[in-house]
Amino acid sequence: MPPGLHDDLSRLMAVMSAAFEPKWGEAWTRRQVEDSLLAGFCNYFLISRSGDALAPGEPPAGFTLSRTIAGQTELLLLAVDPQFRRHGLGKVLVETLARQSREQGSTRLFLEMRRGNPAEHLYRGLGFAPVGERPNYYRTSDGIRIDAVTFARDL
Ligand SMILES: CC(C)(COP(=O)(O)OP(=O)(O)OC[C@H]1O[C@@H](n2cnc3c(N)ncnc32)[C@H](O)[C@@H]1OP(=O)(O)O)[C@@H](O)C(=O)NCCC(=O)NCCS
Repeated sequence: MPPGLHDDLSRLMAVMSAAFEPKWGEAWTRRQVEDSLLAGFCNYFLISRSGDALAPGEPPAGFTLSRTIAGQTELLLLAVDPQFRRHGLGKVLVETLARQSREQGSTRLFLEMRRGNPAEHLYRGLGFAPVGERPNYYRTSDGIRIDAVTFARDL
């Protein structure tokens, strides 16, 4: 494992546990995140409460996990710790990913979202538009099925 990844994974997972409500079943396990990073194509970005890239030892406020293949980037996970929400960190995270992806040659940014997630307001405000859906894709802890909606934005 590359140096620093172990600590970064711990910080990312701390936000993961705080940010995702268990009933939606959207959070990834540490193993899933680690495997995605070791398999290649995936990147993560951790942010501090002040909106800067996280310094060593600093507590995390949010993160993105993304995958870039053949000029297209997918936002796999976006999360901000509940205590730091509605201060623009989610917006900074998505815009940082958009800028970095563009610089690396990506032309389009995709994401998939559970229908009804309030994050839709954030995405639409940042220029994303729906481009598709997968009916009944998610299953809640109560066994309820919810559609996935795919959004995209040109970079
Ligand atoms: C979605 C999430 C990352 C947003 O993080 P955030 O730091 O609160 O977002 P921002 O402060 O940058 O929001 C920017 C704008 O997006 C919109 N927005 C963000 N969250 C919203 C919400 N819950 N309801 C309505 N609008 C919202 C607002 O227009 C907001 O601007 P405003 O606060 O001036 O009104 C955060 O709520 C989260 O971690 N949710 C749980 C995990 C999740 O569902 N991730 C997305 C999976 S697809």
